[in-house]
Amino acid sequence: METLFEELKRYVGFGEADGALLRTVHPLVSPHFDAIADLFYRRILEHEGAKKALEGGESRVGQLKVTLVQWMHGLCLGPWDEAYFERRCRIGRVHVRISLPQHYMFGAMNVVRGELGRVLAERATKDARLLATQAAIDKILDLELAIMLHTYREDLEAQQARYERLSTFGQLAGAIGHELRNPLGVIESSAYILRGRVGDDERAGKHLDRIGQQLGLANDIITTLLDLIRDRPLKHGEVRLSDLVASVQESLAVPAGVRVELDGVAPLPALIGDPVQLRQVVRNLMENALDALGDAGELRVVGRHDARAVELAIEDSGPGVDPAIKRRLFEPLVTGKAKGIGLGLALCKRVCERHGGTVRHETRPGGGARFVVRLPLPGGHA
Ligand code: HEM
Repeated sequence: METLFEELKRYVGFGEADGALLRTVHPLVSPHFDAIADLFYRRILEHEGAKKALEGGESRVGQLKVTLVQWMHGLCLGPWDEAYFERRCRIGRVHVRISLPQHYMFGAMNVVRGELGRVLAERATKDARLLATQAAIDKILDLELAIMLHTYREDLEAQQARYERLSTFGQLAGAIGHELRNPLGVIESSAYILRGRVGDDERAGKHLDRIGQQLGLANDIITTLLDLIRDRPLKHGEVRLSDLVASVQESLAVPAGVRVELDGVAPLPALIGDPVQLRQVVRNLMENALDALGDAGELRVVGRHDARAVELAIEDSGPGVDPAIKRRLFEPLVTGKAKGIGLGLALCKRVCERHGGTVRHETRPGGGARFVVRLPLPGGHA
């Protein structure tokens, strides 16, 4: 049966003759690979959106140029077999993992196309095979683009399958959560009755405390799960984020080694929203930040606003988000915590979106995580 790579080669018309032309032209073009890699990344760094995809900034460019030069050698030398396809898919998946928008690929590929074409035109004007070689380069670059887009599609399909699974599991989990409320209620009232009977039995009292704590935890999980699934109707009232932050701060147990700093939160203008649900967003984000910090570090809450929206950034100096889950951070059941089932951020996203806003994750300069909630002001768009 024809493989996907064979089908793609057939589609762009890439055959053995093209491979032979690419190998022939390799000694001519390879001395220019370093310069092409320089231009490639210069163009990316000149564009604010594309530059953002580089994350760690310019310090990574040196290493990336080396991988791009290797990539160009492979492009011209092949062999263009299934192992080649797999290697190229792996590169594509790296781009997907860092959420590199697909449309940047075309411009980037055109830099390579344009430069190889220019070198060829300058050095091989008398070569009758110029046109055929140019066509071979076009074909292999089209193939590369096709493979890159294939990995994006692969990712999209996996995402869709995940969503379908989640919606079935979500409904099931919601139903189970709902059913668990009753037995938990019975345990709670029995524990209450027992507490009146244990007298001064210290150990029994301790166990009842534990039962109480675990019941609280179980109830919190069920409440979050049901909130996520049910979409509680939004109440609309005047909300001051500074009040929410203060009230959450009061309710959290902050370890002595953790410094909490607020910056620009008090002057934030009021917005219209559901105070209970928005408080939950602030609470989840501040709690996550504290969990990430452990016993020591810095938690900063920074407020900013413009005419259209307010932004509340909650950042911690902890280890930062695990790159393996960065892209799926706001999906239910995705968590980086040892103890946690991964509902908190999904709920934050849901609540922010229902308020016409957003929540996003950013890498904090100097290490750690930053989550930014953006909510529209009355009459504005986030
Ligand atoms: C013609 C298009 C492109 C080619 C051929 C290409 C090639 C590559 C290669 C070979 C790698 C190394 C993969 C690995 O580690 O196995 C890579 C990684 C990477 N590329 Fe590209 N790239 C292209 C477009 C872009 C663009 C447009 C950007 C940014 C705007 C970009 C950003 C990155 C980053 C940030 C990584 C490293 C990701 C990581 O390791 O975390 N690439 N690319």
